[in-house]
Amino acid sequence: MEQSTQNPESAQQNQDIGQGRGVYISTYGCQMNVNDTERMYSLLEMQNFTPVDKPEDASLIIINSCSVREKPVHKVYSEVGTFRKMKEKNPGLKIGVGGCVGQQEKENLIKNQPMIDFVFGTDQIDSLPNLVAETFTGPKERRVNAKFEHRAPYHIETMVRNPGVATFVNITKGCDNFCTFCVVPYTRGREKSRPLQHILTDIQHLVKRGVKEVTLLGQNVNSYKAEEGLDFADLLAKVARETDIERIRYTTSHPKDFNQKLADTMAAHQDKIMEYIHLPFQSGNSRILDRMNRNYTREHYLEKIEMLKKTIPNLVLSTDIIVGFPGETEEEFMDTVTMVEQVGFETIFAFKYSPRPFTKAAKFEDQVQEEVKTERLNRLFDAHDKMAFELVKRYEGQTMKVLVEQADREVGKVQGRSTGNKLVHFLGSQDLIGKTVDVKITKAFPAVFRGELIQ
Ligand code: SAH
Ligand code: SF4
Ligand code: F3S
Repeated sequence: MEQSTQNPESAQQNQDIGQGRGVYISTYGCQMNVNDTERMYSLLEMQNFTPVDKPEDASLIIINSCSVREKPVHKVYSEVGTFRKMKEKNPGLKIGVGGCVGQQEKENLIKNQPMIDFVFGTDQIDSLPNLVAETFTGPKERRVNAKFEHRAPYHIETMVRNPGVATFVNITKGCDNFCTFCVVPYTRGREKSRPLQHILTDIQHLVKRGVKEVTLLGQNVNSYKAEEGLDFADLLAKVARETDIERIRYTTSHPKDFNQKLADTMAAHQDKIMEYIHLPFQSGNSRILDRMNRNYTREHYLEKIEMLKKTIPNLVLSTDIIVGFPGETEEEFMDTVTMVEQVGFETIFAFKYSPRPFTKAAKFEDQVQEEVKTERLNRLFDAHDKMAFELVKRYEGQTMKVLVEQADREVGKVQGRSTGNKLVHFLGSQDLIGKTVDVKITKAFPAVFRGELIQ
């Protein structure tokens, strides 16, 4: 049997190891992990494993973990605890941990958690079939550590089982920014860009499978660099011009690297590149931004926002925020609140600072007390709610182009996304899935709209 070109490390090897066995993957964290989980399922299906919906039905459970804050890390350990009981009833059950906690803890996970059979790093997904085969065929008590080094070059085609209408395409992996709070550069390694032509071909393959919208994915997409010397704006323009994809989005952007050229490219291709930008500012105070190593000030950020609003009509913005970063005073926190109000973010993703292994900020001495962080987070959400519900009322009565993605939970309804990335629910038949239709908005909440189909 020939080896798969997508998977040089032989998904085909031990091809029947999954025969009669179910696999369940529990996924945490960002879209990178969601894509990685899809890749894992695809590779394991080639070994004849059957994906199952409940861990109770599985012979193989993989936890694809996230380490960005302490909470998701705790979830890994509590899940391992739950699976332990299953293993007592079913000793043949194998449990593996991948993702960012796997990368971070490496062999320690196996040492400290007797229920875990194997651990593997974020860049070792293509080795999973071999690893799983080894786990199932080795001596009964065998426990396996995969490799943890990061790999180059970076040429992986998107592997999604059911891409649906909208899907994600990796364009960079890793990160070189070393924000002082962030573990990602340690769990995902140095930043690498995928070759440009490879991305274009990948997207065109997805189009042939019925995909209408792609979101280009990376920790900092703005620093994408193609071998030909082309940058992220050039990539966006090429995807718009040279593929048949209908809609293009991307995430995440870094304010220090967002430039006029990129904004101009978005404006020039507004029929295809959606007018939505997720631009994390993290803190509204320049001293804290400096301590975070973000490489911009409050003023720089606001200047970029002005430039973007001027260049891209109807721009919708969202952001990520951290409260209670070490040393943050009440006044400095208030700078974050006023920033949210001043920019007029319709949606925000805000988190309490969580000290992470290896990071500089975890060693800062002026850590903020947990109660203070909680109180600030609540106040930030309250301030945002007060503003955002009012802000989005202007959409009521407007007609929007909605790409229908799937049937709604409510019978007779479907749901899709507006060009500004709002989830829109409306009465309509499932034949509309994959089509772009006009919908009049009848009720607007900050992230979700209700509307009526215009026939
Ligand atoms: N690459 C993206 C985001 C990566 S992580 C960027 O540069 O913006 C997603 C979000 O998690 C971050 O934007 C940040 O707001 C939050 N985050 C990261 N590390 C954190 C930590 N140690 N504590 C709390 N929130 C954190
Ligand atoms: Fe983390 Fe900063 Fe890199 Fe984003 S840019 S992944 S926050 S280090
Ligand atoms: Fe979490 Fe790793 Fe993504 S830490 S947010 S899964 S890159």
